[in-house]
Amino acid sequence: MDNFVIDGGKAVKGKISISGSKNAALPILAATMLTGEKCEISNIPDLMDIKSTFNLLNYMGKSCSFSGHIFSVSEPGALKHHAPYDLVRKMRASVLVAGPLLARFRKARFSLPGGCTIGVRPIDIHLEAFKKLGAEVTYEKGDVILSAARLRPGRVKFRFPSVGATENLMMCASLIPGVTVLENCAREPEIEDLSLALNRMGAAVEGAGTGRIRIAGVPVLKGLEHEVMPDRIETGTFMLAAAAAGGKLSLLNTGIALVEPLVRALRRAGVKVSAEKNGITVLSPGGRPRPVNITTEPHPGFPTDLQAPWMAFMARAKGICEVREEIFENRFMHAAELMRMGADISVMDRRAFIKGVPGLLGAPVMASDIRAGAALIVAAAAAKGRTVIRRVYHIDRGYEKIESRLRAAGIRIKRKRS
Ligand code: EPZ
Repeated sequence: MDNFVIDGGKAVKGKISISGSKNAALPILAATMLTGEKCEISNIPDLMDIKSTFNLLNYMGKSCSFSGHIFSVSEPGALKHHAPYDLVRKMRASVLVAGPLLARFRKARFSLPGGCTIGVRPIDIHLEAFKKLGAEVTYEKGDVILSAARLRPGRVKFRFPSVGATENLMMCASLIPGVTVLENCAREPEIEDLSLALNRMGAAVEGAGTGRIRIAGVPVLKGLEHEVMPDRIETGTFMLAAAAAGGKLSLLNTGIALVEPLVRALRRAGVKVSAEKNGITVLSPGGRPRPVNITTEPHPGFPTDLQAPWMAFMARAKGICEVREEIFENRFMHAAELMRMGADISVMDRRAFIKGVPGLLGAPVMASDIRAGAALIVAAAAAKGRTVIRRVYHIDRGYEKIESRLRAAGIRIKRKRS
């Protein structure tokens, strides 16, 4: 397993081009299961999760190719309707093939995705909604089996604005003739990107990005050509690396509108952020930021995926601040690792209190999930001395070639194969 070796304390200087969004790409690639026609999706990041999706779609009977950030999918023959445990356990987002399979073939079988370090992550909201549209849900040997003699359009009100459930139901309803209305939907920008893709396939989805989405389903959907939106979480992560290390960093192929909650918090902490024609510039004095409290919320609130990198930035704040994690029940695994670097953090249920320290010291630490791993890079960039981060495969799931892109911006980071 590879490690990252980071010698911190050097300011950033330079520019980084932002990749396509992992969390927009995954549902859009799942949506190719809705049609038998050829699909070509560009600006797809080269990540482990995309490779997992490539394997899953090929296993189901699609024929995929992926090169130069372009993912092409065709359908040479009949598709399987079963997404097996071995593939689903590698990537929870595999559950997004359920909606397309159910809508196209009136049946779907997939392994119940296990939990992960950040929480149990059930899929009850997805399943309740499928039932509302006429599906029967049964379980067998760890698999969920969806079946429907016929699916009917209907009205679904989510008990919580789940991103995945909103995406799964949008895709399913797109292929059910009639009008389906989804309420209390997730409003993330990735939902809008999926809606754009579905409408390009011939669906009629309105209201994505708001709490109420109306889908006029059609009997058949066409192929797709689509360019995936920029990755707002990667954007925010790199902004926080610059904020923590100090210096000037320009981010290209992204936009300040994608990271507004973070921009507000960074400005309150004393970091300058400006919108550029094709991106964002961060200008950070380095040193100790002003303490700023954040609470993670569904979009348009502060994104939970930036909570860990934010905590790393606040570790050297001039004072005490609070981080509240309201989306996942166990998303403070990075706190103990930051404390190994000298941070002073106390965790109580979904609240973490950070008492800023004058400086962090490099130490051997371990990544536990994508964003916790990213937080360790943010902290290591600002710390004195050497940090070695183990289990960087977590980080590789969410950030393409992160070490070469950060090195080009002045951070002393290298990958060591072990
Ligand atoms: C998506 O996960 C993202 N993943 C996550 O990013 C992100 O953290 C999350 O949305 C929240 O923004 C992808 O888009 C591939 P949810 P998802 O359904 O869809 C509970 C990353 O680092 N819940 O909105 O799984 C759930 O347990 C990843 O890129 C139920 O209880 O998130 C959680 O507490 C991590 N029942 C909350 O809702 C359900 O049926 C939010 O989950 C579904 C969810």
